[in-house]
Amino acid sequence: MRPTFSIVISKMNIFAVTLLLFTVANVFQSSESMELNCKFQIYGYFISIPIGWKIFYTCYGELSNERNSTIITEVHGDHLSGRNNSDVTGIILEKETLLTSIPLNFDKFFPNINILYMVDTKTSTIRASQLLQFPNLMYLLLSYNEIETIEVNAFSSTPSLQGIHLNSNKIKSIPYNAFRPLHLEVLQMNNNICINDSADTVQNVNRLIVVADLLCSPLGDMIDEDLRVRIYELSNSQVAFEYSLKDLRDQVSTMEERMQELENILKLVKTHVNK
Ligand SMILES: *[C@@H]1O[C@H](CO)[C@@H](O)[C@H](O)[C@H]1NC(C)=O
Ligand SMILES: *[C@@H]1O[C@H](CO)[C@@H](O)[C@H](O)[C@H]1NC(C)=O
Ligand SMILES: *[C@@H]1O[C@H](CO)[C@@H](O)[C@H](O)[C@H]1NC(C)=O
Repeated sequence: MRPTFSIVISKMNIFAVTLLLFTVANVFQSSESMELNCKFQIYGYFISIPIGWKIFYTCYGELSNERNSTIITEVHGDHLSGRNNSDVTGIILEKETLLTSIPLNFDKFFPNINILYMVDTKTSTIRASQLLQFPNLMYLLLSYNEIETIEVNAFSSTPSLQGIHLNSNKIKSIPYNAFRPLHLEVLQMNNNICINDSADTVQNVNRLIVVADLLCSPLGDMIDEDLRVRIYELSNSQVAFEYSLKDLRDQVSTMEERMQELENILKLVKTHVNK
């Protein structure tokens, strides 16, 4: 009888040790992992008045095991019939209030993402390393987050971007030429700290980028509220003003030249204001 009992004990020990190891491994892993639970649906997204609605087969996602990790390790959810992960072109994430950045690893599951809609998170920066996973991205809809700045070259790996929404964030600075590699048709930046304006035609986007280069640069702090208002007015109404700025922009390359350019823009603005 004893041996049998002893075998039982030792089996229980092995079981207990295995369970312990399993639990430790799981706790360890989940601090570095995140699961994405998808409701797969066809969603319409309103991009802008000229563009209207766009339709994408979408993962409406909810994150679980969400701590402060940023890496998606598993994706769950039932596809609409006849579809699989390769057909997914859109991602929606809402109210993930613990999320402090765009999660990574989407491309391991969904290689063909065209649109990312993420609102009500604590994301504070747009980084090149986060956008690298979306080489086919057309629309980046990130209104109502806590974005303060955009990394230099953030958009260098997303050449197909046509629309960016950044309304109601906390943008304080934007690096010079951050939007320059893109051909945007829509750029919405209402209700931010250094900028409060939107554009939904190519021409207006170019105008808005010039204004943002000025207001969201280190020179932005020197511009008082009156001047700020005049800059918006002028940039909206004066084609000549816009072309002068564009000429200036095209001539710069070094940091000194850039600062010089911004000072010239400011002088030009003041000249217009005094007229
Ligand atoms: C998660 O938070 C802990 C403490 O709050 C920190 O030590 C750790 O570096 C964070 N991990 C990540 C991936 O941010
Ligand atoms: C998804 O479906 C397509 C056909 O519709 C197929 O070619 C492809 O291999 C499938 N991909 C996966 C990941 O199953
Ligand atoms: C942006 O402008 C609108 C009016 O044009 C104003 O109501 C709003 O308070 C402004 N937002 C900020 C953050 O200044």
